[in-house]
Amino acid sequence: MSWSITVRGVTKRFGARTILENVSLNISPGETVALLGPSGGGKSTLLRCLNGLNTFDHGEIHVGPHRLAPGARQARAALDPIRRSFGMIFQDFQLFPHLSVLDNVTEAPRRVLGISSPAARSRAVGLLDRVGMASHTHAFPQQLSGGQKQRVAIARALAMEPRGLLCDEITSALDPELKNEVLSVLEGLKRDGLTIVLVTHEIGFARRAADRVVMLCDGKVLEDGTPAQVLDHPKTERMALFLQRVLE
Ligand SMILES: Nc1ncnc2c1ncn2[C@@H]1O[C@H](COP(=O)(O)OP(=O)(O)OP(=O)(O)O)[C@@H](O)[C@H]1O
Ligand SMILES: [Mg+2]
Repeated sequence: MSWSITVRGVTKRFGARTILENVSLNISPGETVALLGPSGGGKSTLLRCLNGLNTFDHGEIHVGPHRLAPGARQARAALDPIRRSFGMIFQDFQLFPHLSVLDNVTEAPRRVLGISSPAARSRAVGLLDRVGMASHTHAFPQQLSGGQKQRVAIARALAMEPRGLLCDEITSALDPELKNEVLSVLEGLKRDGLTIVLVTHEIGFARRAADRVVMLCDGKVLEDGTPAQVLDHPKTERMALFLQRVLE
C-alpha cells in the first residue's frame, strides 16, 4: 500500500538563509509528482526533508502514518520507518562498489528487514528481472553503464518494499537512450500505484508520467497543478521564463 505525503508550512534555513519558505504540498497515495525549478531553488532540500535527511525549522510533514516536526524527539521515532518506507534514489546511483549487483539488492533487506539470504536472493532476482537486469546479477557496479546502474539502484530501493520513492534527478547523468530505459521503469512503478516524488528536468517525462507538476523557486511553491495547467498555462511569469529556458 502506498503512502500519502503532506507538507504543511515547512520552512528550512541554513544559517541566515531561508532555503524553503512556508512550503505546503499534498501528495496522495499512488500519485506521481514532478518537482521542477531552477538550480538552487530547494528541490533536493525538500526531498531530503521528506525522509528526514534534513531537519527543518517550522511546519510539519506527514509521511503515511508518521509525523516529522522540528522537535528532535518526535522526529527521531518517525525517522527509521520513513527512511525504510520511502526509498531515495540519487543522480549518482550510490551503489556499493565492492558488492555484486545481486548483493547490492539483497544487502538492506537482509540487514534491516532480517529477511533470510535465500528469500532475499529470490526476491532480488525477481526485481532485477523487472528492471531488465536479470542477466547482470553477478556483475559489479563498475562493469555497468549508467542506465544499468540506475536500474539496479531502483531494484535496490524496491527490495525494501517501499510505500513510495523519492527520486532526485535520477536521469541527469544519462544519455538520452539510457534515460528512457530508466524512465520506462518508473512509469511501470507508477502503474503499480507507488507514490513517486521526482525531481527532474525532463519536461517531456513530467508531462507524460506525472499526475502533478510542482514548481519550486527560491524556496517557494510557485505553481502546483496538472502538467497541462503548469506546463501549458503557467500562472506565473517566472514559470513561463523557466520553461522557455529549459525548452530552448
Ligand atoms: N548543507 C547545506 N548547507 C548550506 N546551504 C545548503 C546546504 N544544502 C543546500 N544548501 C543551499 O540551499 C539552496 C537549495 O539547494 P538545493 O540543493 O535544495 O537546490 P536544488 O533545487 O536541488 O538545486 P539543483 O537543481 O541545482 O540540484 C542552495 O542555495 C544551496 O546552496
Ligand atoms: Mg538538487
